[in-house]
Amino acid sequence: MVGPNRNWNIAVCAIIAIAMTSAICAAQAAPPAGSSGAELFKNNCAVCHGDNGAGSALGKRLLTPDLRNKETRQKSPSALAQTISAGKKNMPPFEGKLSGAEIQKLIEYVRQFHR
Ligand code: HEC
Repeated sequence: MVGPNRNWNIAVCAIIAIAMTSAICAAQAAPPAGSSGAELFKNNCAVCHGDNGAGSALGKRLLTPDLRNKETRQKSPSALAQTISAGKKNMPPFEGKLSGAEIQKLIEYVRQFHR
């Protein structure tokens, strides 16, 4: 009685262990593709640019521009994309960290600060 029962328990444990491991791996995969521009901005940019684009205390020390200003508003989406992917002076590059689609969402988000 003990023998087969124990084997069954081991098999069940193994299945549970595999299921849990794959669930954990799935949870660690890249950030959800559906993140909105606002979420992306909050997670990657607000540390310097502030939630509303005005610039955090740290951002001001790094000479971060207020993204609501006229200069930023007049820049083309491709110029903003360039700054976000390649970085500029104290602004770190996000190429490789964020996908092209995520950068596009961020540009739309940045451009709506001054609407
Ligand atoms: C470590 C601080 C820091 C982080 C994080 C950061 N930035 Fe910047 N950002 C800067 C600084 C500093 C500048 C000014 C660069 C310069 O001197 O031209 C800048 C400039 C910009 C500009 C250009 C504004 C203009 O008028 O040309 C855009 C757009 C921008 N950031 C968007 C973002 C986005 C989107 C993110 C998140 C993906 C982000 N930044 C993350 C510091 C940061």
